Amino acid sequence: MTTKTPPIVSGGYPVVGHALEMMKDRESLFKRGFREHGDLFSIKLGPRYAVVITGADYNKQFYMQTDKELNMQDGYQFLKASFGEVLFTASKELYTNQRPLLQEIFRRERMAGYIQAMNIEVQNWLDSLGESGEVDISAAMLKLTQFVAGRAFIGPHFEQELGEVFWQQYDAISNALDPVLPPNLPLPKFRRRDRARIKIREVFSQLVQKRRENPSEYEDLITILLNYPMKDGEFLSDEMIMNLFMGLLFAGHETTAGQAAWTITLLLQHPEYLKLVQQEINEKLPFGSEIDGRKIAEFNHIAWAIDETTRLRPSADVQLRTVEEPIRLGEYEIPVGWQLIANAANSHTLPEVFTDPAVYDPLRFSPERKEGKNPFAIVGFGGGMHKCTGMNFAKNEMTVITSLLFQQFDLELLSEDIRVIQGNGANHPSPVWVRYTKKDSKS
Ligand code: HEM
Repeated sequence: MTTKTPPIVSGGYPVVGHALEMMKDRESLFKRGFREHGDLFSIKLGPRYAVVITGADYNKQFYMQTDKELNMQDGYQFLKASFGEVLFTASKELYTNQRPLLQEIFRRERMAGYIQAMNIEVQNWLDSLGESGEVDISAAMLKLTQFVAGRAFIGPHFEQELGEVFWQQYDAISNALDPVLPPNLPLPKFRRRDRARIKIREVFSQLVQKRRENPSEYEDLITILLNYPMKDGEFLSDEMIMNLFMGLLFAGHETTAGQAAWTITLLLQHPEYLKLVQQEINEKLPFGSEIDGRKIAEFNHIAWAIDETTRLRPSADVQLRTVEEPIRLGEYEIPVGWQLIANAANSHTLPEVFTDPAVYDPLRFSPERKEGKNPFAIVGFGGGMHKCTGMNFAKNEMTVITSLLFQQFDLELLSEDIRVIQGNGANHPSPVWVRYTKKDSKS
C-alpha cells in the first residue's frame, strides 16, 4: 500500500500555514488548490493538516464513511460551548440516541403546519413594507427567518414567549462562534456568550414549565421533545431541550437567510430567468391567493432557481470531518487526526458535470437536462446519514418567500458588487438594497 502524502497547496506561512487564508477567503484558497493539484490536495491549518476533496466520488466517501472511519463532531467542537452536546456536536452514540426526535420534528405530516407559519410570517413582513421604499434583503432575511422559526417551532405566541431578549442573547451566542480560538479563553465575546446562555436557560425553563403544566394547550417543538423518548427510552432533560432548539436555530437560521437572500438577488441579476418565474407566479399564485404545500410542488422555475442558488452560493460551503481510522482516498492514505474538508465551491463548478459552470442557469435542472443528478455532485445540504434534516423546511421557506415577494412587489436591484460574506455559521450576501413598489392588486 502506498503512503503517498497528498500534495500541499502553494502559499501559507510558517507555523500558521494556510489558517489565515482559510479564515479570510477560503474559496480562493480552494480554487488555487484545485488549479494546482486537482480534486485532492492538502492545506496546513496551524499544527494540523487537512485534505480538501472535490467531486461526487470523494464526496460519497466523505459522507458514507462518516461515523465510521470519519468522525463528525470533532470538527464542530467549537459549536459545543454555544449549543451543548446535540446534533452535529454530539458523540456518535448520543446522536444516534437523539436521532428519532429529529425525525419526529421533521415528519412529513408536520410540514403543512410549518408552511402555514411561513405564510403568516412572510405576509407580515410584506405588509410591513408599505406601498414603496427601499430595503436591504440580506438583513431582512435574517430577521424574517428568525420569525418563521419562532412561529413554526414555538407557536403563534412566540413573540411574547421568547421576547426580544431571547434574540439578543441568541445573537450574542452566534457572534461568539469561533472555529480557531479555544472557547473558554477569558474574552469578552465568550463571557457574553456564557451570560447569554444563562438568560436563555431562564426563558426556556419557563416555556418548558408552562407546557408541562398545561400539555393540552400546546403543540410545538417543545411538546414534541417533552413527549417523545429518545432511542433508549429516556426523555430529554430541560437543558437538552434548550440545546436542541438552539442547535436547530443555528443549523437553520443563517443558512436559510443567506440562501433566501441569494435566491432573490440572483433572480434580480438575471431578468430573463426572473420573467419565467414571474409568469409561473402569475399563473399559479395570482395576487391575493395563498400558498400551501400543493402549490409549492407546482413551482418548477422557483425550485430550479433555489437549486441553482444552492449550487452557486451555498451557505454551508465547507463541511468537516476528522480521520479516526486511516482512510484511503484514491492513491493516498490519509492518517489519523487529519481533517477532511468537503468544499462545495469546487464540486459545484466542475465543467464535466455542469455546462458553463460559472453561469447562472437554473434550467440546467429541468427534466430535459437534469445536470448534477448524482446525489453527491451537489453537497449544499450535505449527504448520507447526516444530510440536512431541515432541507425540505428550508426549500419550502425559500419558495414561500420568493413566490409571495414577487407576487406582490416589483423590485429593482440597487446594490452593485454584491459579495459573499464568509460567516462562521454560514455564508450570506453583503447588503442587497432593493427599491420596491407594491403591485396593483387588480392588474
Ligand atoms: C438553506 C438552508 C440550509 C442549508 C444550506 C443547510 C445545510 C446543511 C448541511 C450542509 C448539513 C450537513 C453538515 C455536515 O454533514 O457536516 C446540514 C445538517 C443539518 N441541518 Fe441544515 N441546512 C439548511 C437549513 C436547515 C434548517 C432550516 C434546519 C432546521 C430547522 C436544518 C437542520 C439541520 C440539522 C438538524 C442537521 C444535522 C443533521 C444530522 O446530523 O443528521 N438545516 N444542513
